[in-house]
Amino acid sequence: MSETRQDWHAVAGMSDLPAGTARAVTLLGEDIALWRGESGSAQAWRNQCPHRGMRLSFGQVRGDRLSCRYHGWQFDTAAQCKFMPAHRKISPPASVCVPSYGCRESGGLIWIRLAGDGDGFEDTAAAGDTQADALFCKSIFVDGSLETLADRLVGAYFPPASRALEAMPGAGFEGEVLDHGRGADESHAVVAWRRRGREPEEAFSTSYHGMRPARSVIRVVAKTEDEPPEALMLALQAMTERRTGVHLATQSSGNDETDRQRRLYFGRWARRLRWFLEHPEAPFDGFRPWT
Ligand code: FES
Repeated sequence: MSETRQDWHAVAGMSDLPAGTARAVTLLGEDIALWRGESGSAQAWRNQCPHRGMRLSFGQVRGDRLSCRYHGWQFDTAAQCKFMPAHRKISPPASVCVPSYGCRESGGLIWIRLAGDGDGFEDTAAAGDTQADALFCKSIFVDGSLETLADRLVGAYFPPASRALEAMPGAGFEGEVLDHGRGADESHAVVAWRRRGREPEEAFSTSYHGMRPARSVIRVVAKTEDEPPEALMLALQAMTERRTGVHLATQSSGNDETDRQRRLYFGRWARRLRWFLEHPEAPFDGFRPWT
């Protein structure tokens, strides 16, 4: 696995971890408890209670503490044990704590790295063009290594959401690749799109520029005629050597209903994408996740 413990990886959408919840995620083979207190930011800890090893992701969030499900030890947001129900009069020693990992939230996603201080996060975030108006759409989990998937994702393309939603949510599009090329870690394509069953005069073309600005980030920018560019971020999570998470985010439209439709649209696209990624024998021109 070429990814290192110093790399930042997206592991979930921010909206997938509401306040007061905990869940398990895997990064580079490490089992991690991800949780959010009632008032705080996301926390990422080793998923093992220091008492008897229970998975902390099974625990309950009580205010801004995570309580282990087995014997109820409670840990604050500094990962320090603050309360032991069986020893109510004892202050737990400082040595009773949980190893924690770097955890940041940006661009609609939660990012973790297993080692190192906060350095480098801004570079990764900038690479993904993560922004305040980012819209998290969907996570998919795919059989395959991060490197194998990244190589294919940099050439991904999709009918522009603006045109697809304008036509009709769920409308099928057919695409013909007019131009396609690859450089180191970059790809470009021009695709002529037509809504299925419609006349050729209704066709339009979109150019795509796929980049890999950071090891765990793919960014695809689509430009259709004189419309504003549409950017899609595919943030990669190296779960194990054979399994990778792909977290999709795009720009928010600023309108709740349009954003809901964009989420649904890219969610459908992502399901097709997963099939393509898990069938490396499928030729590039056979990539039709939009149908
Ligand atoms: S195993 Fe967690 S409190 Fe005992």
